[in-house]
Amino acid sequence: MKRTIIISLVALLSLVLISGVAHAAVSGPCANCHTMHYSQGGSPDASWGSGGPYDFLLTNDCIGCHTTSGADPYVNGYPFVKSTAGSFSSSACLAGGFFAVTDSVGNNNDVAHSLGNTNAPAGIAAAENSWYTGSTDGLSCAGTNGCHGNQTDLSDMVAIKGGHHDPSAYRILYVGTSAVLGTGAADYEEALISGSGTVHNVYSATVGGPSISELCGKCHSDFHGSDDTNAASPFIRHPTDVAIPTTWDIYVNFATEWTGDADAMRNHPLGFNAETETVGNARVTCLSCHRAHGTEYNDCLRWDYNATQIAGGSGTEGCLGCHSRQR
Ligand code: HEC
Ligand code: HEC
Ligand code: HEC
Ligand code: HEC
Ligand code: HEC
Repeated sequence: MKRTIIISLVALLSLVLISGVAHAAVSGPCANCHTMHYSQGGSPDASWGSGGPYDFLLTNDCIGCHTTSGADPYVNGYPFVKSTAGSFSSSACLAGGFFAVTDSVGNNNDVAHSLGNTNAPAGIAAAENSWYTGSTDGLSCAGTNGCHGNQTDLSDMVAIKGGHHDPSAYRILYVGTSAVLGTGAADYEEALISGSGTVHNVYSATVGGPSISELCGKCHSDFHGSDDTNAASPFIRHPTDVAIPTTWDIYVNFATEWTGDADAMRNHPLGFNAETETVGNARVTCLSCHRAHGTEYNDCLRWDYNATQIAGGSGTEGCLGCHSRQR
């Protein structure tokens, strides 16, 4: 009996770990986020966005609520993905990284996803991405021209409807109508990134549902291997959702090079192909090298690729974090 209870507890815990049961819902007074008439004393309140009235009676739009003028990326329960002060960096941001202060270059060739731009995503396979309307509507946060929410609604708010109050997918992310799997750190990795903790997101790398890399593959499909990446060595593009070879140091020394190693979790995180973060389930994902929104480095990378050297001395991070033979 006792054993059964323990087993079910373990099963429950592992379910919570990656199946997306526990996602954070918004809290606080309705008035913090909704206005019934978009009017306060005859005109919009100064604390609201100026472009309203907004869908769902909101006081702002996505980037309005998720932008700060300060340097702290997580304040009063608001996760910020952009700082107008330009003060976010690789040690002061959340797991998704951050959009650039002036976010308009948008040519696959700067440091961030550029909202509003109409360039095609590098690696797009037209046949699979016919739903994407960013080439005319501009890249957006959600919906048919963005990353969050469903792929069927043009309006970013409609596409994520219900996500903030009744979240059912990892970070309100979907491939088609299937929820992306994963478990989000409650502080969005603020502590891990600033160097004061090891609590981290658990990325899925195919667990019988869409992985985080498949999310990227919605738009960058060729890079996820749906078309022209081999499934085995020699690879012709860097693979994702493939296993870490058993001979590599990060596999052999999993306890010291992953579990409890904050640098590894920050700089070259692994994805997992099952409910538990064990070495046999460890895989490489798009987010092993990139942050989703942007970083201070080219191509939304977690580190400066041009500065990565073979036998880099100090370097067991980035590429060398996994490729120990090159250290
Ligand atoms: C911290 C901000 C925040 C607070 C507080 C908040 N909401 Fe919302 N609410 C949102 C956002 C953002 C959306 C639109 C996006 C979404 O649905 O994910 C939304 C959507 C809604 C919707 C439409 C979608 C749905 O779930 O049916 C309703 C209705 C709603 N809120 C009611 C309320 C009520 C009532 C309260 C207070 C008891 C409240 N909200 C408090 C942020 C908030
Ligand atoms: C909704 C479509 C869409 C999805 C989903 C998407 N991207 Fe992109 N991505 C784009 C577009 C459009 C561009 C080109 C415009 C630009 O550079 O901002 C781009 C550019 C990029 C760039 C180059 C940015 C630069 O300017 O240096 C990187 C790196 C990138 N994406 C990685 C990712 C990763 C990793 C994911 C998954 C977390 C992802 N993308 C998901 C649309 C998407
Ligand atoms: C009225 C303010 C407001 C608006 C508008 C808003 N958000 Fe949020 N959002 C929040 C707050 C507050 C949270 C923090 C919820 C938590 O973790 O407690 C949040 C959380 C999130 C999360 C993380 C959810 C999770 O899994 O933990 C995502 C993703 C997100 N928002 C995306 C969006 C997108 C995309 C839009 C526009 C379509 C949007 N938000 C519009 C206030 C807002
Ligand atoms: C092993 C690390 C690594 C992984 C995994 C990885 N990338 Fe990259 N990515 C890079 C590096 C490094 C660059 C820039 C230099 C280069 O392309 O050689 C880059 C560049 C890009 C660019 C810009 C391409 C351009 O035309 O400028 C996009 C878009 C991109 N990656 C998307 C993705 C997506 C989507 C995935 C997952 C399917 C992914 N990456 C997985 C390391 C990685
Ligand atoms: C999270 C771990 C991880 C990181 C970080 C990583 N890789 Fe990889 N890489 C892999 C895995 C796993 C494979 C597939 C190995 C296999 O199955 O033989 C691979 C394959 C490769 C290959 C192809 C090898 C072949 O046999 O075809 C090259 C080259 C490569 N990586 C270079 C890089 C470079 C350069 C970087 C940094 C920009 C990088 N990798 C970062 C995990 C990683």
